[in-house]
Amino acid sequence: MNDKHRTMDDKQTYILAITGASGAIYAKSLIEYFYQHNLPLTCLISDVGKKVWEWEIGVPIEKALPASITLHCEDDWWAPVASGSVKAKAMIVMPCSMGTLAAIAQGLARNLIQRTADVMLKEKRPLILVPRETPLNIIHLENMLRLAKAGATISPAMPGFYHKPETVQDLVNFVVARVLDHLGLEHKLIKSWEEVVRKDV
Ligand SMILES: Cc1cc2nc3c(=O)[nH]c(=O)nc-3n(C[C@H](O)[C@H](O)[C@H](O)COP(=O)(O)O)c2cc1C
Repeated sequence: MNDKHRTMDDKQTYILAITGASGAIYAKSLIEYFYQHNLPLTCLISDVGKKVWEWEIGVPIEKALPASITLHCEDDWWAPVASGSVKAKAMIVMPCSMGTLAAIAQGLARNLIQRTADVMLKEKRPLILVPRETPLNIIHLENMLRLAKAGATISPAMPGFYHKPETVQDLVNFVVARVLDHLGLEHKLIKSWEEVVRKDV
């Protein structure tokens, strides 16, 4: 572990874990929010997450990430967030693959993302999972139920249309906004319901 990692991770950080589910743009948009609001963020990424990010975003995550944000790979077991002694504010797994979801639900802790999520649950700290898959089989559904019972929040990548989205980014923002709302972080990513209704009546 180097000094840079220690400094970043010790500041009551938020954690964003990026897995190999489709939807790297959700993670990118959340990173931009944290960067613009100068909030401490530590990113974790799985091996497949890196590949899907590059496929969907068009550049490797290492090139897209602001230098001030720490990035850990899935086998970086020396990352401070792997320990409960780092009092992370919250962890978001977005996008969350069914594989990572299953591993967290079973407490496998076989990579840094699974271990850190396990720590969040055992320390009773906020853990938000943003799964992306369709249709869902009974194993997916049972794993989500198990995680919800264990204290995690399941916030699916399921955009709504009532705020009259005009762009892909509007749809992405809807999903990211739900996460920020849950974290109690102010944002203007989507119009409030009041604004939408006022415009249309
Ligand atoms: C382009 C691409 C898109 C994928 N999309 C999904 C997805 O939306 N949901 C999912 O559960 N898995 C998806 N997968 C499969 C996962 O990447 C795969 O199950 C992987 O083992 C997940 O590992 P991880 O959770 O450690 O990242 C996708 C894979 C690729 C290559």
